[in-house]
Amino acid sequence: MAVWRQRRLEGTGRSHGGQSGNKQPADAASEPLLCRPAKLPGLVRPQRIGRAAPLAVKQVAPTIRLVEPTRRSRIRAPATPPAQLARGRHHGARHDGSRPEGLCPDLVRRINGPTADAAGLPNEAYTSERFLTLERERLFSPTWTCIGHACTVPAPGDTRPVDFLGQPLLMVRDAAARVRVFHNVCSHRGNQLVREPCHFAKRIRCSYHSWTYDLDGTLRGTPHIGGPGRHENDRFDRAAHGLKAIRAAVWMDLVFVNLSGGAPPFERHIAGLADRLHALADPSQNGRMRPAATHGSLQIDFDGNWKLVVENNLESYHLPFVHRDLNARSRLEDHYHFYGGDLFAGQGSNLYRPIAGGDADAFHRFEGWPEGLSEYPTLFPNVFIGVHCDHVWTLVLHPLSATRTREHLQVYYVGEAADDPAHDEARTKTLEGWRNVFLEDMGVVEGMQRGRASPAFLGGVFSGVMDEPTHYFHKWVANRLVL
Ligand code: FES
Ligand SMILES: [Fe+2]
Repeated sequence: MAVWRQRRLEGTGRSHGGQSGNKQPADAASEPLLCRPAKLPGLVRPQRIGRAAPLAVKQVAPTIRLVEPTRRSRIRAPATPPAQLARGRHHGARHDGSRPEGLCPDLVRRINGPTADAAGLPNEAYTSERFLTLERERLFSPTWTCIGHACTVPAPGDTRPVDFLGQPLLMVRDAAARVRVFHNVCSHRGNQLVREPCHFAKRIRCSYHSWTYDLDGTLRGTPHIGGPGRHENDRFDRAAHGLKAIRAAVWMDLVFVNLSGGAPPFERHIAGLADRLHALADPSQNGRMRPAATHGSLQIDFDGNWKLVVENNLESYHLPFVHRDLNARSRLEDHYHFYGGDLFAGQGSNLYRPIAGGDADAFHRFEGWPEGLSEYPTLFPNVFIGVHCDHVWTLVLHPLSATRTREHLQVYYVGEAADDPAHDEARTKTLEGWRNVFLEDMGVVEGMQRGRASPAFLGGVFSGVMDEPTHYFHKWVANRLVL
């Protein structure tokens, strides 16, 4: 089984990270290693690039509360060096005889080093389909992962199929207007149940033998199951063959699933970010944040690994060079970075000016959110949030393959600003402004992806100041994938 470890640069005798003399087996793929449980990443202290954020909102505190405020990363050194571990072939074997895969502890230890000296994730982390499969098992499935926006199934009976990391899922708005998520497969012969977004007045019908399910997943109709005209069968228990439900939760119109079923309750999971975005995420505010009825969503597909766009979203370093228009409104010096344990990290600006252009009062304001503050938390693993006094957007990443990703963006406004035709032009300007920003980002993300084909790139280096959020995410990933 493969082990992703840093390559050695031919002729230099130095491994990535600048440490020499660390002998690695020539055939890493054949080396079985002791499987070690993943640890939480090391937590770096919040560091501001520009001025401190204003304190008008108690949840936006100058010292950011970390979900894990004191735990330091400790990837314990193997009790035996890798060469000895290589002899323990029985260690970590699965019941099917295969061996676990992951990043070797030595590389993870280097990734966990001080930012200015740390190793970055190797190229394979951005190019390998097997690595993406590993991420599905170890990054996405164990936690709460977002699969889309609840507003895409607005009415009871609306359904939307979602292919997430190769798994067919189905979002359903049930009769009580609650969003449920099921495996999108018929219990009979495994036909994909719903292929396109569509509305079912009462029951979801399979196109193969016409079995029908209630919107809560209960199997109701099994035509001719006992022979022509006999729709029941004594040997078949309908109650045992409903749709297979997945743990799901909706927060800020985002639909989350826990594929493994073992994550903590969602409310506990999201608490750290819900506190920070209290002005928007508090249930009492639910009715005020509404999805834009027009000019409110976009989809962008790009040739890049999903982690590259996360890394790009986390840091403000590239702002003056990639987003000149944006930088003219809010400079690099106005930005700061923040960290929320193993839940989120991001950047913010103390100088937000409405992207809609000259009309600064185009939209109503979210109560409790400071006029000049914008924040862009990345909720791990795959959600970006943009918070401003006059609009909010959320963006969900769908990894389509190791080298291709889809972004779904949805914009929200306060009250009638979401659908009033009088705000149509301002909504258009806002969406187009963000489209330009995201397309500018795509240019560098695709450039980084192409760079991952170079054997001369060994994970790169981090600025100890400007790249801290990027390094933070590398640690988040690496510590979940360590062998
Ligand atoms: S596969 Fe769905 S009814 Fe037969
Ligand atoms: Fe950017």
